[in-house]
Amino acid sequence: MKTRITELLGIEHPIFQAAMSWASSNSALVIAVSNAGGMGVLAAGPLRIEDFKRIISEIRSGTKKPWGLNIPLNNPKAREMLDIAFDAKVPVMVASQGGPREHLARFHAIGTKWLHVVASVEHARKAEAAGVDALVVDGAEAGGHPPPSEVGTLVLVRRVVKAVKLPVVASGGIADGAGIAAMLALGAEAVQLGTRFIATPEASVHENYKRAVLEADVEGTAVVGRGMQPIRQLKNSFSRKYEEAQRSGAPAERLNAIFEESSVKQAALDGDVEWGKVEAGQSAGLVDEILPAAEVMRRLVAEAEAARRRLASL
Ligand SMILES: Cc1cc2nc3c(=O)[nH]c(=O)nc-3n(C[C@H](O)[C@H](O)[C@H](O)COP(=O)(O)O)c2cc1C
Repeated sequence: MKTRITELLGIEHPIFQAAMSWASSNSALVIAVSNAGGMGVLAAGPLRIEDFKRIISEIRSGTKKPWGLNIPLNNPKAREMLDIAFDAKVPVMVASQGGPREHLARFHAIGTKWLHVVASVEHARKAEAAGVDALVVDGAEAGGHPPPSEVGTLVLVRRVVKAVKLPVVASGGIADGAGIAAMLALGAEAVQLGTRFIATPEASVHENYKRAVLEADVEGTAVVGRGMQPIRQLKNSFSRKYEEAQRSGAPAERLNAIFEESSVKQAALDGDVEWGKVEAGQSAGLVDEILPAAEVMRRLVAEAEAARRRLASL
């Protein structure tokens, strides 16, 4: 499957492992996906600077294939991390949450391809005008930070593909080869999967987190924090407490306080899947097995090919 994205990035398959704070804040998952011909993406957000440097050097010695780095540009450590990424000549940036314009010239000068994560048509157009190389478009099914508009992937990806000339990577709700074929049919030129890659031995979250993803069905997630920066996570005691407070008309400060009581770290590191923020997408309901990342990649490619054959035979 050759697309403008596989050509741009020099990857074999149009499949990204999404940046996921904690779950892909390590080298093992990124290396496994990139070595399997996909695009492994390191989530730098939660990392301390010394760990960030160590993990970059582990990735560089673990794979000769292209790999990506996600830095949320509104992160207080973003500038320092960008300088380190520049010195390391990171092959691909997958930046989120903030404007890319001021960074593009120096990264393009060293050959870095810059992709930008967007969740609306307006931001897609802005990122294109700023000069990024491609877009990652997140729809409402996505784990982590879905679009505040809650427009689903099916509609948003199609709308953005029609609104811009840049190649688009579809993200949110994709967990198997049928989903990949669907997104390619919409005009996306690659896909990004987060939740599917949580259920791998390489993902750096607690076993309880992985088990919770396997156990969840498609109705098993909630959007918490509507009206602020909403997150999609598995339903648990924390999400119910927040929703109850919201339903009973609690003031914004009270909702904020409840939101801040919980963290992704609590779920990912300590395994507290009742009171932590267990970020995951609706596609958790399509994931029922922990498999090595290379095997996930192999199955995704085979399933996408099968889906294409099935469509061709209709
Ligand atoms: C546990 C988790 C953590 C995430 N952390 C980040 C992050 O640090 N930066 C980012 O740009 N997106 C983050 N996301 C969003 C993913 O990059 C991606 O858009 C999403 O997982 C796609 O939806 P899916 O989970 O249905 O595949 C996160 C998602 C999850 C599930």
